[in-house]
Amino acid sequence: MTSPASDEYHVPVLAAEVVGHIVTNTAGAYLDLTAGGGGHLAAMARALGPEARLYGVDRDPEAVAHASQLLRAFAQVRSVIRAEFSTITTAVTAFEDDRFDGILLDLGVSSRQINDAARGFAFGQDGPLDMRMDPQRGTGATELINSATEKELTEIIRDFGEERQAARLARAIVRERQKGMIRTTAQLRAIVDQVISGPHRIKSLARVFQAFRIAVNHELDELRSVLPAAFSLLKTGGRLAVISYHSLEDRPVKRFFQSEARPQEIYGPGQLVPIYPPARLKLITRKPITPSAVEIDSNPRARSAKLRVAEKI
Ligand SMILES: C[S@@+](CC[C@H](N)C(=O)[O-])C[C@H]1O[C@@H](n2cnc3c(N)ncnc32)[C@H](O)[C@@H]1O
Repeated sequence: MTSPASDEYHVPVLAAEVVGHIVTNTAGAYLDLTAGGGGHLAAMARALGPEARLYGVDRDPEAVAHASQLLRAFAQVRSVIRAEFSTITTAVTAFEDDRFDGILLDLGVSSRQINDAARGFAFGQDGPLDMRMDPQRGTGATELINSATEKELTEIIRDFGEERQAARLARAIVRERQKGMIRTTAQLRAIVDQVISGPHRIKSLARVFQAFRIAVNHELDELRSVLPAAFSLLKTGGRLAVISYHSLEDRPVKRFFQSEARPQEIYGPGQLVPIYPPARLKLITRKPITPSAVEIDSNPRARSAKLRVAEKI
């Protein structure tokens, strides 16, 4: 398969802002845990000196192949490997550096993953209901949708899609799968179309597809595990930058940053006076950075992006 050009693959979001906030040492070591098409890595490489070292990670083997190829032009890019957030502490032992000046997490899926009908992420085109970011591991959305109980389906759609009609949609899925397996994105879309009518239909479709994507890829567990792991891989003074695209992603990032910047008081056994552990990070962005109107105009995918940056003390 030929890889598309970088722009066709994925246009990096808030690239200048990421580089501006993450690069504090032009001869340092940087890690992008969501390499995707390699756009952010390329932007960082352009801002770094020749002594700098850059590493990429992605759970999608196609992204790893694409980014490795694209980034061959940059001598600072040492390697791009396949791994998921939850195995990152072990995965980075493959690199020459073990502590980093900057780490980036650009969450969610790439345009390439969404636009490829065969990956099953999009309701706008028909394809197999797969939705795995790594098609070589785990099980896809077909297995989940055809085996989960009605209660589990309701919870997935409600908790990961924030969709108010979750119970009705779950009931419709169960009814439909009694006639035969639900195997395609068009079938799932048709079920949502039956239940939701009117102006909210497209938003509900997006929420239902988002819910199953999050469930299939264990995205929120992955995110919760990677925040402390990435933090511990930073050098003192190193920066963690996270771009999120919806509130379910942004909330844990915001909470993690706040809890490390302002740790809660602790009462030891039998102690009446609390201990205040020292803050472990400093917030660099008090409010998240969002894309300009010009960026959103040229890349509508950027519209919901929020960039938060913190520095390890
Ligand atoms: C929004 S894209 C990143 C695009 C990239 N910044 C660029 O400039 O092209 C997110 C990428 O993160 C990867 N990803 C998401 N969750 C992951 C996880 N838990 N572990 C590893 N990679 C993950 C996806 O496979 C996808 O390629």
